[in-house]
Amino acid sequence: MKGAIFCGYSEYIEQAHGLLTWLDIVDKSELAESSSFIATDIYEDKIFVELLTISAELLNVSLSDILTEFGEFLFPTLLGSAKHHIGECTNVFEFLDHVENVIHIEVKKADPLAYTPSLILDTVSNSELLIKYTSHRQVCFLAEGLIYGAAKHFNQKVTIEHLSCTHQGDKHCLMKVTTVQPS
Ligand code: HEM
Repeated sequence: MKGAIFCGYSEYIEQAHGLLTWLDIVDKSELAESSSFIATDIYEDKIFVELLTISAELLNVSLSDILTEFGEFLFPTLLGSAKHHIGECTNVFEFLDHVENVIHIEVKKADPLAYTPSLILDTVSNSELLIKYTSHRQVCFLAEGLIYGAAKHFNQKVTIEHLSCTHQGDKHCLMKVTTVQPS
């Protein structure tokens, strides 16, 4: 997994829970060699999983909640590195299509070692989108947080429902994203 994700994760923990908590998490880790990461390097996925698991135990929250919150936090940083690829997108659904068909493709062109998930989109209506998320990393809740972050960027509010999830024994993850009209 890209160092940029690890850098974002350390920033997230430091901002949300303090530097000492982050240092404590790294201290408890058997796999992380240091508390800082190089954004352009690639680190083993299992280091991220271990850091997440330790964080969830220490903070007494679920893995899914921590990943979702982290995804929302990470979104502006990821977007910052892709501003030139954002195109003509005016809303979160258009943007998700752009992520799958342009942004993640550019990420892999720039770094052949990068791995991004497959997001298959099915627009049901103007306000409802189905997303089939597939990745050997199985971090669908990170995707969920990133979608919340993207909606915020476009001044939209969405709800996300996991219709099926590999963590519940289903064959794949299917998310229903619904835009909420302002009252
Ligand atoms: C709402 C929008 C987005 C969603 C749902 C999304 C989804 C994801 C997820 C879930 C991952 C974790 C890896 C995995 O699942 O296997 C990931 C990785 C990544 N994404 Fe996205 N992403 C979004 C936007 C972006 C943007 C704007 C960029 C900007 C360049 C970006 C660049 C990356 C990079 C660099 C990785 C790490 C690749 C690696 O570790 O090898 N993503 N994305």
